[in-house]
Amino acid sequence: MRRRLALAAFSLCGIGAAGLALAQGFDAAAPNFPGVQSMQRAWQHWTLNCQGCHRADGTGTDDSAPSLAGTVAKFLHAPGGREYLGMVPGVASSPLESEDLAEVMNWMLYRFDSAHVPANFQPYTSDEIAKLRLRPLHIQASTLRNKLLQQADRRLK
Ligand code: HEC
Repeated sequence: MRRRLALAAFSLCGIGAAGLALAQGFDAAAPNFPGVQSMQRAWQHWTLNCQGCHRADGTGTDDSAPSLAGTVAKFLHAPGGREYLGMVPGVASSPLESEDLAEVMNWMLYRFDSAHVPANFQPYTSDEIAKLRLRPLHIQASTLRNKLLQQADRRLK
């Protein structure tokens, strides 16, 4: 009897965790995004390293970080935009290893802005991210950000 109760409690927890994960953006049944080996790991890395500023759903906050939702993959349409995404301070100076960071970047693009991911997009690799983060942007990030978004918007019209 006790064992059965324990089992019931265990399955309830399981369902709870799956429900929570789904609400937060991790769906165990969904196919992996390109360039993402483990959807769960990417989501966990996002949760621990990025969402504090960008929020769980990527919508950001006025005073800490811009919204990535519906915008972030637009940068891939502007010359230099792909590089910019790997050089912004929050990405370049992340404590994550480049391999995990590349995975989070690919996950983030599809999770928050799949509509703007170009059809021929090649996922970020560990090597590419390792090189980009050697040249982190600082104060110039927001000026460059505005310029790239304007260029992307012109091309997407
Ligand atoms: C301390 C807050 C903070 C953290 C943590 C953070 N970011 Fe950001 N992020 C920003 C800000 C602010 C910008 C806008 C560019 C700038 O001025 O630095 C930004 C810009 C970006 C951009 C460029 C898109 C755009 O609209 O400019 C991407 C991509 C991004 N962040 C991804 C991430 C990822 C992935 C992580 C976790 C590995 C992360 N960020 C962690 C604050 C943060």
